[in-house]
Amino acid sequence: MLQIQKFDKTFNRDTMNSVHALNQVDLTIEASSFVVVVGTNGSGKSTLLNAIAGTFLPDTGSIELANTNITRWPEHRRARFIGRVFQDPFKGTAPGMTIAENLALASGRGRRRGLKQALNRSALGVFKGRLASLNMGLEDRLNNPIGSLSGGQRQAITLLMATWLKTDLLLLDEHTAALDPRAADQIIRLTTDIVSQKKLTTMMVTHSMNQAVSQGDRLIMMHKGEIMHDLSGAEKSRLRPDDLLTRFDEIRRSEQLDSSAAQLLEANYV
Ligand SMILES: Nc1ncnc2c1ncn2[C@@H]1O[C@H](COP(=O)(O)OP(=O)(O)OP(=O)(O)O)[C@@H](O)[C@H]1O
Ligand SMILES: [Mg+2]
Repeated sequence: MLQIQKFDKTFNRDTMNSVHALNQVDLTIEASSFVVVVGTNGSGKSTLLNAIAGTFLPDTGSIELANTNITRWPEHRRARFIGRVFQDPFKGTAPGMTIAENLALASGRGRRRGLKQALNRSALGVFKGRLASLNMGLEDRLNNPIGSLSGGQRQAITLLMATWLKTDLLLLDEHTAALDPRAADQIIRLTTDIVSQKKLTTMMVTHSMNQAVSQGDRLIMMHKGEIMHDLSGAEKSRLRPDDLLTRFDEIRRSEQLDSSAAQLLEANYV
């Protein structure tokens, strides 16, 4: 279980560029739940995932993962329990290394025994099996550099790597946004397969309304560093792309009302 309490973060405090990116966020996610995160640009989705991964520490608030308080843990310590996949297919893998070498690193074998030894026949057999399950023909390209693969193929391998070892939490930040529609669908299918097989607790940020309604068992909508909507159960499963768009419009409209009210107030005071 992931438990975030009163998490608050302001970037560039006391400067002209001050941004209150997360505003007293409370969020509890049950183990094995798959949460989709939506919201307009700049609403705090990536910041929320970064906060959990430990990219920065909170101004106030706490984070517990699997009953352990990790609020002050550095990012690298959390990385042992938290798998991440980003939008950029170039981010999750070492481009100069081969597919096999990348998988050896992810499986933790590389760290303990040196990369050469980690690539013994039995390890290569395991890697081949896992790659074959992707149905992308990558099992025959173990010695190719990762840099020679397409974006979709790289994201598939990044997903495998991010979930290779025991993972308490999987964080996906628009991990299909840079892919063409076919590759995006393929990666979404792979995501749901891995998440359901391993019963992973997952948070997935997306701008795709179709993904948002069809994936996961819970949906949160963020706005200005706050969680505006939190839907699960029947409410989530009934949700259609149009319903989501309506909720976005409502937020936009209330914002316009806020800003015109502010303008009105300003006008009255000058
Ligand atoms: N390290 C940082 N330093 C300063 N400001 C930051 C930092 N990280 C995020 N912000 C600001 O915090 C706000 C939320 O950003 P965030 O990246 O979380 O948005 P988002 O919801 O992921 O948007 P998008 O859909 O565009 O990816 C933005 O105003 C952003 O500029
Ligand atoms: Mg983002």
